Amino acid sequence: MKNIPLIAIALIVLLLGACSEPNTNHEALIPMPNQITYNSGTFKFTEKTVIVVEDNQLKDGITVFNKKIEASSGKKLQLTDKSGKNGTIIIRQNKALEDEEYELNIETTNVILEAATPAGVFYGLQTFTQMCPKDIHTLKKGEPFSFKINTAQIKDAPQFGWRGMMLDVSRHFFTKEEVKELIDYLAFHKLNVFHWHLVDDQGWRIEIKKYPKLTEVGAWRVDREHLPWDSRPAMKEGEKATYGGFYTQEDIKEVVAYAQERFITIVPEIEMPGHTTSSLAAYPEYSCTGGPFNVVPGGLWPITDIYCAGKDDTFQFIEDILTEVMALFPSEYIHIGGDEANKAEWEKCKKCQARIKAEGLKDEHELQSYFIKRIEKFLMANNRILIGWDEILEGGLAPNATVMSWRGFNGGIEAANSGHNVVMTPTSHCYLDYYQGPVDTEPVAFNASLPLKRVYKFNPVPAELDADKARFILGGQGNLWTEHVANKAHMQYMAFPRMAAMAEVLWTKEDKRDWIDFSQRIGQYRATYDAMGINYARSMYTVQFESVFNEESKSIALDLYTEVPNVDIYYTLDGSEPTQSSHKYEGAINIDESVSVTAAAFINSKKAGNNSRVNFNLHKATAKALSYKNPPHKKYLGRSEITLVNSLRGSRNFGDGNWQGFEGEDLELTIDLEKQEPLSKVTVGCLHQTGSWIFLPKGIKVYTSEDGNKFVPAGSTTNNVPLQSEAQVVDFSVDLSDTTARYIKVLVSNQGKVPQWHSAGGGKSWLFVDEIIVE
Ligand code: ACM
Ligand code: ZN
Repeated sequence: MKNIPLIAIALIVLLLGACSEPNTNHEALIPMPNQITYNSGTFKFTEKTVIVVEDNQLKDGITVFNKKIEASSGKKLQLTDKSGKNGTIIIRQNKALEDEEYELNIETTNVILEAATPAGVFYGLQTFTQMCPKDIHTLKKGEPFSFKINTAQIKDAPQFGWRGMMLDVSRHFFTKEEVKELIDYLAFHKLNVFHWHLVDDQGWRIEIKKYPKLTEVGAWRVDREHLPWDSRPAMKEGEKATYGGFYTQEDIKEVVAYAQERFITIVPEIEMPGHTTSSLAAYPEYSCTGGPFNVVPGGLWPITDIYCAGKDDTFQFIEDILTEVMALFPSEYIHIGGDEANKAEWEKCKKCQARIKAEGLKDEHELQSYFIKRIEKFLMANNRILIGWDEILEGGLAPNATVMSWRGFNGGIEAANSGHNVVMTPTSHCYLDYYQGPVDTEPVAFNASLPLKRVYKFNPVPAELDADKARFILGGQGNLWTEHVANKAHMQYMAFPRMAAMAEVLWTKEDKRDWIDFSQRIGQYRATYDAMGINYARSMYTVQFESVFNEESKSIALDLYTEVPNVDIYYTLDGSEPTQSSHKYEGAINIDESVSVTAAAFINSKKAGNNSRVNFNLHKATAKALSYKNPPHKKYLGRSEITLVNSLRGSRNFGDGNWQGFEGEDLELTIDLEKQEPLSKVTVGCLHQTGSWIFLPKGIKVYTSEDGNKFVPAGSTTNNVPLQSEAQVVDFSVDLSDTTARYIKVLVSNQGKVPQWHSAGGGKSWLFVDEIIVE
């Protein structure tokens, strides 16, 4: 090696540094493009940037980008069809690309965006917008702007053709402006289907000219908004229906056009044959009983109101409605619901039974199948495709139907195996009405859990599906039911950032997806969401608690963590607000006395989430050995073998990891306190959540023993909370004063069967237990 003078080396380093320093400080992109290479240097985007549209066929792809810039800055970007100068964005047709595919080359001189279709151009410009500093969302009217954008080469195309989001506007109404705003955000995340759940028992939201009472009557319910959703009494005689709203046909046309401009198809859903009380309140003649009915003000369940499948007039009514719906929505797919139709009225109805006989049907399931097939025939005659929830499989699937699989993946697998198209929306990964963080730190939601990371782990093509059937899976979507969501801020809170995770799952190929990388990008995206005015949840930064037992020291310790990594956690032990001067969490905290821990996560010295608190109450059974007669169900084991005595309590969310579940069986377990102890009380916490088939026990019995062999009854208690009541955690206590014992046996008796009033009446009931507290 020759000697190179030091000064020359210094010069080379300096030069390299100046001209090829990789810029790692680029904006976060969601969904992640499938191929991206960053280069050195930047492109300057200003209000003087010219857009060159080489092929007029592509110009619809730039409309929204132009409108966005003009609406916020007041400045119009100049359009031309002639190339020439530098500093332009060139929109070029490339017919070799797929419909939604694009290639975006950001060079220091020009930006070249290639696509085959306007949709491809649109997605390329969404990526371009995301690459701009977040200030692009807050341009000032009349002021010049200038952004430096990293040079990069991007090749990108979606993984799935159905990238959806559903909003329920029946349980709570959202205005057309609120819906349009949501559609903007769908587009920004490259989602392309908006599934509009327009009707349900609690409100009919679309004007139908031929049946004006659908909105005059069906869009309004008695106002019970001050009561929890699940404990709202039905409308009474003399009460007025004042709460609700609907879209006129002009509103619908406006929203459909708005979505079309953003390459989003709106799939309207008109529920049938169940979930139809709002329309039956207006036109009771299409029910089995003739009514009367009132629009339901909350979560009364089960609802047995249903369209009569025995009357031809019912089908005429539905076809008239669908005729107007098809005139408003160009979507190839029309969603007809089909879920959760309670068949009790069909069993009793003479006309429905006559239909079963006349058509040679086996039962009411086949009658539902007859119903859906008849509607499918009508839709097919109008060149539309029927899509419905997976219950449409029961009794035989309509020949050309597409299935939306919500009760897990199985319905979708069955449909795909028989050659039907499928949209996967299993509750486990797609129900955005579920809690996204610990229950006691969140607004009231449906009592189940769907944290951000689980959405990110969604794969619409399940491993069990044969590879040659994967082509039937069109994609997936997030479903936002709104029983507990009454306004826009809350709607956005439930949708974001989980919708971003859904968007990446549906757009980006599996080998390009990475949870850690996504969680960092979503961290950066908070500033973007702030700039866009989106009220997103910070639940992924809520500190959660887990207690662990240290075998060696025989002591219990508390682990603190957040769903996303790379945050700093600070905590206090006196109930005060955690700050960066509080204790910093560096590893499991040893616990040797009862404490209340308040914790919060920080990123870059800023508080990232809400406070969370755990009351850690040590008791005589904490971390003591348990022996079970029957183990808990393998799906609900809790966090560890000491879950029931770990001093952490289960919340109202049965999936929070603290609960142990027993399906149809009692819990009988023995605790070894390791020495004779004077005892005062045993308390057993139990969950009640009828919607998930979880019921309080019949009662508990407690026995004690000095030697672990001979047990004597020490006391018992029975449940006196009505089973038809809202979700709650109930503590059952047995007084043991004046008892001394080393062993305690606890028997918690399962109801055994779901009560008959429940829609799952007669099935096995679940018993959920956490914590057994010995004092
Ligand atoms: C549904 O959640 N009932 C489709
Ligand atoms: Zn009937």
